[in-house]
Amino acid sequence: MSSIPGWEARAVEPVHTKYRRIVTRIPVPESLPILEKLKRFEPQTMGGQPPVVWDRAEGVCVFDRWGNQWLDWSSGVLITNAGHGRPEIVNAIVGQARKPLLTTYCFPNEIRAELVEKLVSISPAPLQKAFLLTTGSETIECAIKLARTHGIREGGRAKSVIVSFDRGFHGRTLGAQMAGGIPALKEWIVNLDPGMVQVPYPDGFRTEDVRFEVFEQQLEKLGVDPRNVAGVLLETYQGGGSSFCPKQYIQQLRKWCDIHQALLIFDEVQAGFGRTGKLFGFEHYEVAADLACFGKGLSSSLPISAVLGRQDVMDLYPPGAMTSTHTGNPVCAAAALANLEIILRENLAQNAFRVGGVMHCKLAGLKNRFPERIGAHHGMGLVAGLQMVTPGGKEPDGQLASAIVRAAVEKGLLMFAPVGFGGATVKICPPLCIDEEATAEAVQVLEECIAECASV
Ligand SMILES: Cc1ncc(COP(=O)(O)O)c(C=O)c1O
Repeated sequence: MSSIPGWEARAVEPVHTKYRRIVTRIPVPESLPILEKLKRFEPQTMGGQPPVVWDRAEGVCVFDRWGNQWLDWSSGVLITNAGHGRPEIVNAIVGQARKPLLTTYCFPNEIRAELVEKLVSISPAPLQKAFLLTTGSETIECAIKLARTHGIREGGRAKSVIVSFDRGFHGRTLGAQMAGGIPALKEWIVNLDPGMVQVPYPDGFRTEDVRFEVFEQQLEKLGVDPRNVAGVLLETYQGGGSSFCPKQYIQQLRKWCDIHQALLIFDEVQAGFGRTGKLFGFEHYEVAADLACFGKGLSSSLPISAVLGRQDVMDLYPPGAMTSTHTGNPVCAAAALANLEIILRENLAQNAFRVGGVMHCKLAGLKNRFPERIGAHHGMGLVAGLQMVTPGGKEPDGQLASAIVRAAVEKGLLMFAPVGFGGATVKICPPLCIDEEATAEAVQVLEECIAECASV
């Protein structure tokens, strides 16, 4: 029988609780032919996640078809903010599909009109227009294009620099990768755009100096004239560590952007729609965004994303010049609308704030118990990152993080593979409908995993 690298079969303890059930070996022997098929016909890059073959997912749980059930701390990859398989979303998708109206390109459709109206109505000023796309990366490409177009119109072609941040991640398309701050991901790009530069991200751990002056000093070092900056792009929190900036830093950045007529662009692809305990993550900073990019939690299901922005910026292009084939697909739009209704009706941002508060207290307790191995605990609401380090230092320990994720999966707690600097962040991001009971159980499991893995 073949095995999955890093996941050689080993006996695991049976688990049986309300949220978790493990009754087979992991990976499940019967699932190996499926895993092998994927390995054979997909590029190996698709093989990075724990070998759990999802069969169905509901609420905060994921099930395979061999009797195992995981309490989900992944939300896929921060997609299912409203919870997995919510009947309201399923019904909206099925209802729209059964009409049938499966696609309309940019021809008008009613559900798209409802969705963009809804998005604008719930967004903080001055986000007045919404452009629908399919993936998060596309929204970043679009935001870069809009910021540069705006800059060039305001200040000529020199005003086209896009400033982003070290260790940032904005997706895997060309522009998004150039705006990203992870050098290894850019090795394939032969002609790096000299008009895209990165500055230190003030996370307080990998970058200890969190003063805004560092931003200005770095631009000067890079020879960037602030008057030539078209836009500053940042993740509301960096996904790699779940790290936020100090509020004061962002408020100074907002002023700086105003002075230099640069657009402030928040990448809310992970942070949007309640994840951080506020409906929009950048609300924590109490500043306005000129553009904001959304994806993932917008539908809790089907692929749909959105750029929201100031009217003057969003209307820079004439009819037909900024489009995409699947813009506002009616089935995806129906899913997104149903999802937003759930998030608002059930006040899931508030739930993320409340349950997340309890979770972060418990995680802080874990950091106290394992101070040598958890270098940093960052996050807000229902997103957290534990950055694992080699004993006593700050070196990322990707092996330890991977061992913890594996141990958790074997105990029925589902997490995706470690992310972030050195692949050493254990990322926690459950559906936002999770309650305190499930959260307490999950943290207890995580504690057992760290105790087991950190001692070997
Ligand atoms: C902050 C952020 N921006 C952009 C993206 C890219 O989104 P997508 O994978 O939908 O292209 C991601 C995906 O993980 C992300 O986390």
